[in-house]
Amino acid sequence: MKIAVMRETRAGESRVAASPETVKKFIALGATVSIERGAGEGANFLDHAYSDAGAAIAGTLSEATTGADLIIGVRAPAADAMTRFQRGQKIVAIVSPHSSADVLQAAASAGVDLFAMDLMPRITRAQSMDVLSSQSNLAGYKAVIDAAAYYGRAIPMMMTAAGTIAPAKIFIMGAGVAGLQAIATARRLGGVVSATDVRWAAKEQVESLGASFVTVDEEAMKGAETAGGYAKEMSADFQRRQAEFVGKHIAKQNIVVTTALIPGRPAPRLVTEEMVRSMAPGSIVVDLAVEQGGNVALSRRG
Ligand code: NAI
Repeated sequence: MKIAVMRETRAGESRVAASPETVKKFIALGATVSIERGAGEGANFLDHAYSDAGAAIAGTLSEATTGADLIIGVRAPAADAMTRFQRGQKIVAIVSPHSSADVLQAAASAGVDLFAMDLMPRITRAQSMDVLSSQSNLAGYKAVIDAAAYYGRAIPMMMTAAGTIAPAKIFIMGAGVAGLQAIATARRLGGVVSATDVRWAAKEQVESLGASFVTVDEEAMKGAETAGGYAKEMSADFQRRQAEFVGKHIAKQNIVVTTALIPGRPAPRLVTEEMVRSMAPGSIVVDLAVEQGGNVALSRRG
């Protein structure tokens, strides 16, 4: 089997689908591996590390993928790039199929099979292939680190004889994989952390990390989780009361990190423009749901 590794084309995407280490494993399984030149640069894996691992370095995408049985990427190629692949080729990547109808259509027309890693069932047997948990975990951590870097003041309480600076108040909205890691990171930095979610199970998880859990309606939360462990879309009444409550809470926060998602649906809009404007100057909002439409009215991708 020939496996080809694509160079990512999206702006800001620094990841690569295979490291020299994983290339060695593919080769040990009997595959030949071809890497598009520079594919690993953003992740600090240089071409020579791949060739040392036994891969061939290809000058272009088509050189890498011609004759390949399996093509791997972090993100699926864009719709207009699908004609560059051969009929019958299989691409394994994050596809976001619910919001990428054009990509699916282009793949179907080109006769290319897409394997969406983001649709991998989250069952025990598939945990080592769970691209959502591994990346959400890192994203939750990085969101807080980025917020701390942009925030002009200290996160922990700072006390000397000259005076005391209060710790930053950090509010995490959505306490799934990314949110829980954001809470843990914000706590380690010394922030005063609160969090909210619509799933009942999240309350205990938030509290076990030492953050306070805030909600408008605990009863409504008991029916908010699907059998698969994901959130359902909440009723209009819940959303209205949640918005009212969140509005009051946000005005007192220094840093807000939002991570709320509903699989297959646009991200719930949790923070209005008015709420953002109610925060003190210098406050920071990080919206991790921005690619799914965003939890925050003013956020922009990138
Ligand atoms: P996600 O990325 O789809 O959503 C993030 C969070 O946003 C979720 O906790 C969700 O409840 C919350 N949310 C949705 N609408 C909201 C709203 N209106 N207000 C506030 N919060 C809202 O979910 P994620 O993080 O991928 O996973 C959620 C849960 O799935 C995990 O906490 C875990 O229980 C389960 N899971 C199970 C795995 C397994 O292997 N068995 C692996 C990963 C997650």
